[in-house]
Amino acid sequence: MFEYKIKKLIENSTEIKNPEIEIPPKHEMGDYAFPCFELSKKLNKPAPEIANKIVSKIKKPSFIKEIKIIGPYINFFIDYASISRKIICDIFKEKNNYGVQNIGKNKTIVIDFSSPNIAKPLNIGHLRSTVIGNSLYKIHKTLGYKVIRVNHLGDWGTQFGKLIYAYKTWSNSKELKKDPIKHLFNLYVKFHKESKLNLNLDDLARNEFQKLEKKDRKNLELWKLFRSLSLEEFKKIYKILNIQFDSYDGEASYVSQSEKTLKIAKKLLNTKISEGALIVDLEKFKMPPFFLVKSNETSSYHLRDLSAALYRLKNYKPYKLLYVVGSEQELHFKQLFKILDLMKLNKNRFFHINFGMFSFSDNTMSTREGNIILLEDVINKSIDLAKKIMQEKNSIAKDDSNIAKKIGIGAVIFGDLSNDRNKNIVFNWSRVLAFDGDTSPYLQYTYVRCLSILKKAKKEQKLIPDTKINYKLLQDSQETKLIKDLSNFKKIIIKSGEEYKPNILANYLIDLAKDFNEFYNNVKVITDDKNSTKAKIALVYCVSQVIKNGLNLLGIETVNKM
Ligand code: ARG
Repeated sequence: MFEYKIKKLIENSTEIKNPEIEIPPKHEMGDYAFPCFELSKKLNKPAPEIANKIVSKIKKPSFIKEIKIIGPYINFFIDYASISRKIICDIFKEKNNYGVQNIGKNKTIVIDFSSPNIAKPLNIGHLRSTVIGNSLYKIHKTLGYKVIRVNHLGDWGTQFGKLIYAYKTWSNSKELKKDPIKHLFNLYVKFHKESKLNLNLDDLARNEFQKLEKKDRKNLELWKLFRSLSLEEFKKIYKILNIQFDSYDGEASYVSQSEKTLKIAKKLLNTKISEGALIVDLEKFKMPPFFLVKSNETSSYHLRDLSAALYRLKNYKPYKLLYVVGSEQELHFKQLFKILDLMKLNKNRFFHINFGMFSFSDNTMSTREGNIILLEDVINKSIDLAKKIMQEKNSIAKDDSNIAKKIGIGAVIFGDLSNDRNKNIVFNWSRVLAFDGDTSPYLQYTYVRCLSILKKAKKEQKLIPDTKINYKLLQDSQETKLIKDLSNFKKIIIKSGEEYKPNILANYLIDLAKDFNEFYNNVKVITDDKNSTKAKIALVYCVSQVIKNGLNLLGIETVNKM
């Protein structure tokens, strides 16, 4: 909000339309700055001289505390005390809704995330898509968008021919009942081993998949069984993570649309037959061909994703479509979006929200058959470690397993989301669980610290922010810094949404918590001065509310004691 006002100030005292306002890197340099380089070049006059001239024309509004020229910059210092009343009263009024905005009003965003392959356990690789997608869902919802969460299950493809073959040949109903996904996955692994020895198996599996595509009764029945057993397992983990979806329409649900999609594709695209497959040549765009139908006449991952895209466009009329999928599928989405471009359907609304790989800094996670690390094992380990730390610290909540759960899960989610999603993550247990690092336990701990101050204060006085309180009493730099942080919350949500980067929000929360702890260590909140105490208590309340709302946008819960 200040940025806009400062823009206007500069506009009015220069000839520049929509001047570029910068945010200085250091607090001491002010809150906003206008660089005079360009004007200096244009007018061929030294920048400080120009800066002086502009400043002399500005009539300082009340929200600005000071205007200072530093070198070629005009630096603006906001009088945060002057807005403290508004910020504090807004947070008190809006509470859990503080942060809600309407820039997405009447616009729909479809987010395709998590989207695991059935008959395989959720592994650590799925963590990223699941938690990034969920956070982007929450962020966009808060911005006022209608958001559709799609779990595009990998429930179709040649691998199910392999699984059906393996099931028919080696299955064991007792083991299937005991641990269905494990059994199916073992069958799958066995198939791969055996197919190296017996080269016929691949053909037999392909045959089973073709039968499945032609709706063979027995194969369809097996496939349905695999799918429902898998979904049941996935949902258990989504429940632990408190994540929901609006649709579980996976790849299989688009197979029936293949004919229609092919008809549209043939009309709008230059399709051709190449070695028995129906493709769109993308050589011109330096990409391998897009496969509509494979040479064995089965549908392809490409075609199913194209059908899904057409379906989503038609049914949701989205403003944007996001695909939260690892970088290893970058080419796939480049091809898909290029095809949609050629069909004049892309219109810059399709986005691949990619992310780097996830690995552990040590060997504490055992791998299962097939060399994968189960997401469930990671979550359980984190909860166990949280319990252990709480025992060691002799925390008052050390026997509360519900709290340990929230801390453990939060640590895993934050350990992921606090990184720029494009980078690879090397996960380090002691780092993500540290109560005093850039972690979710640190944020949860800071929240608890706020609560205990509020509790203590409540015993002595009421915590209603009345407009009679003189919030200008919040003059101390530790206090105005917090007001500034709080006033940035909405802007940070917008930025995280625009860049599809929850880490922007995660890092903001860490800064807020650090500023709060500095305030806590230096300023006595409850004193004999009733008015100043009331103002500070209100500030503490607001910090706790923003930490809570911010964590919620990341998919992390707060706790009441720690
Ligand atoms: N099932 C795929 C996998 O686990 C991810 C699917 C992503 N979404 C999509 N529309 N292709 O690798």
